[in-house]
Amino acid sequence: MERPCVRVPREAGEDTRQALAESGLLDDEYEIVVADGTLFLPVTDAEAASEAHDVVTRDVPAHDRQQTPADLLGFEPSYERLGDVAIVDEDDPQRARDIADAIIDSDLPVRAVIDRASKVKGDLRVRDWTVVARVDDGDDDRPVTETTHREYGFEYLLDLSRVYFSPRLATERHRVTEQVGAGEQAIDMFAGVGPFVIPMAARGATVVGVDLNPAAIEYLRENARRNGVDDRVTAIESDVRDVATDHADWADRIVMNLPHSADEFLDAAVTLAGDDCVIHYYDIQHEDDPFGPGERAIREAAAAAGYDVAVLTRHVVRSYAPHELNVCLDVRLSR
Ligand SMILES: C[S@@+](CC[C@H](N)C(=O)[O-])C[C@H]1O[C@@H](n2cnc3c(N)ncnc32)[C@H](O)[C@@H]1O
Repeated sequence: MERPCVRVPREAGEDTRQALAESGLLDDEYEIVVADGTLFLPVTDAEAASEAHDVVTRDVPAHDRQQTPADLLGFEPSYERLGDVAIVDEDDPQRARDIADAIIDSDLPVRAVIDRASKVKGDLRVRDWTVVARVDDGDDDRPVTETTHREYGFEYLLDLSRVYFSPRLATERHRVTEQVGAGEQAIDMFAGVGPFVIPMAARGATVVGVDLNPAAIEYLRENARRNGVDDRVTAIESDVRDVATDHADWADRIVMNLPHSADEFLDAAVTLAGDDCVIHYYDIQHEDDPFGPGERAIREAAAAAGYDVAVLTRHVVRSYAPHELNVCLDVRLSR
């Protein structure tokens, strides 16, 4: 497109670009062009630029810039992306609708925008969602809340309306799964769709994943297959307390990510643990003593089964609510 451009020798290009940018004259909707040792810098105001520069008219390509929701709204909205689903958390339905429309109309590859309609609830830790906007892609067979999420090189298919999943825990999962060595026997007592199970299996561990939610187990099996680790993963649909004796004294490592009630499952964890076992125990506690209750509960359950306990790490995962922290205790049980 024909635009006014400042013409300068290439050597003077960077200084000129900076000067134009500082005076607000650089037109960043268009690309800077180089031809025969000369730079053409598009400007927004030919007259103003010509006071200090040589201005010519030239054909320059428009920047192929992606249009963001903020471009359309005029403010930066808050949302999370999970595959091709965008998640908002808005109290005002009209504001949710405006943000959702802007997300769909932007260049983001988003198929649906959903709003949190409840807290995570019940044993299965699934929340309700309101579908605020969606693209009509003609694929009516696929649930609107089903998506493929990628995390640290792994791929997870999941339906947010049927299973628990939080992309915010990606760094924490990576911290834990990086500790796993080949040949280990690991159990995720609350496996969900497999974001701990699959990376552990990919590191060469033999992994058992248990979950009460049949949909989570369905997705866990599919995700093990998709990520090429199904030969090392056993997925069990059950209350983990009911299958602990089937794998008694088996585990070198146990993941316990059910933070509000993990203490109720410590007897099962101790049954599953081998003679030397690392447990990653998640908890949510008041900031005044975030690790104490978990540590005391673990010591009590472990002592009853003749284990010594060493705390390896006291790790704050994130702030959960005002004055409440989501924490992880990495502990070694040995006997
Ligand atoms: C907080 S989610 C964690 C899921 C997964 N580890 C993750 O990081 O995405 C807890 C999971 O525990 C499962 N669960 C709850 N009670 C259970 C029980 N008694 N036995 C086995 N699984 C249970 C829920 O269905 C849910 O999928």
